[in-house]
Amino acid sequence: MDINIILAEIDLEINNINSPENLEQFRLKYLGRKGIVAQLTATIPTLSQGERASFGQQVNALKNKLSLLLEEKQRGNSANNSPRESASFDIGMPGIVQELGHLHPLTQVTEEICTIFNRMGFSIVEGPEIESEYNNFTGLNIPLEHPSREAFDTFYLKDYSKMLLRSHTSPVQVRAMKDRKVPLAIIVPGRVYRPDAVDASHSFMFHQVEGFMVDKGIRFSDLKGVLEEFSKAIFGKDIKMRFRPHFFPFTEPSAEVDISCIICKGIGCSVCGRKGWLEILGSGMIHPNVFNHVGINSKEYTGFAFGMGVERIAMLKYGINDIRLFFENDLRFLRQF
Ligand code: PHE
Repeated sequence: MDINIILAEIDLEINNINSPENLEQFRLKYLGRKGIVAQLTATIPTLSQGERASFGQQVNALKNKLSLLLEEKQRGNSANNSPRESASFDIGMPGIVQELGHLHPLTQVTEEICTIFNRMGFSIVEGPEIESEYNNFTGLNIPLEHPSREAFDTFYLKDYSKMLLRSHTSPVQVRAMKDRKVPLAIIVPGRVYRPDAVDASHSFMFHQVEGFMVDKGIRFSDLKGVLEEFSKAIFGKDIKMRFRPHFFPFTEPSAEVDISCIICKGIGCSVCGRKGWLEILGSGMIHPNVFNHVGINSKEYTGFAFGMGVERIAMLKYGINDIRLFFENDLRFLRQF
């Protein structure tokens, strides 16, 4: 085999290659295990001493040329087929890992609360944070002389004196009872506002979850059952619950609900102020005057309502002692949830 003839043939063949399959055939023909280069190499030991060195060099040069041509052709082929595999882009290079965020602890607790009530058949409804004075107070049987109506307890909108930032989620009771048909079982998560000075346990904005149920024959014992189920689901099944008589204008009778202290289990410690009990929410049977405002016949229908602060539940659940931590957006705090 004359190496010069082979070189000439190679030049011709390489120009006719137009597919990866052709290129592979070409590679096998010359550089394969039984290819031409291998055959030429095999003849070297049969040559005379004098011929070996120069023939060996020629074969080597041929091999190098073939490798170069193949590489060039391969690059050209892949550049046509898929630009992403071109030499300038290394697909083997590791990507940049994006740091994943997660939900804010208050969102997590709100979702947990809503899921528990969802399982008991409550639907989730939301209402606006800018509310009418009527829905926030009048419709809820809160009389004109009630202190929560005062400007020091409520943010009124300057140019719309009948509008305000809602001070609780209870106005959604009025909205839902007007808009929907009984029976109702509704849960309302959302932000509320009160012009309180900010300290470890107060914030001018916080979150509540309101709940209420209206149907024929709803009793106080239904409220008790639902809240007991809730307390156990969120704080553990050993938790005890008690009702303490209280007053709310929109419920009668009204009660605040305490759970046995999750720190000392009821013995008395600094978290529960040595009482053994922690207040978690306000509740009661919906006042007939509220039903009258929304056109529900209070002789026929009864219902219960309750409202809880999400921050308070989260603080108890996770042992957080300062409400401001939720709003400072310090990643060292947030990353713990
Ligand atoms: N709206 C009351 C508050 O913000 C809580 C509450 C809701 C009480 C429903 C009774 C019934 O304090």
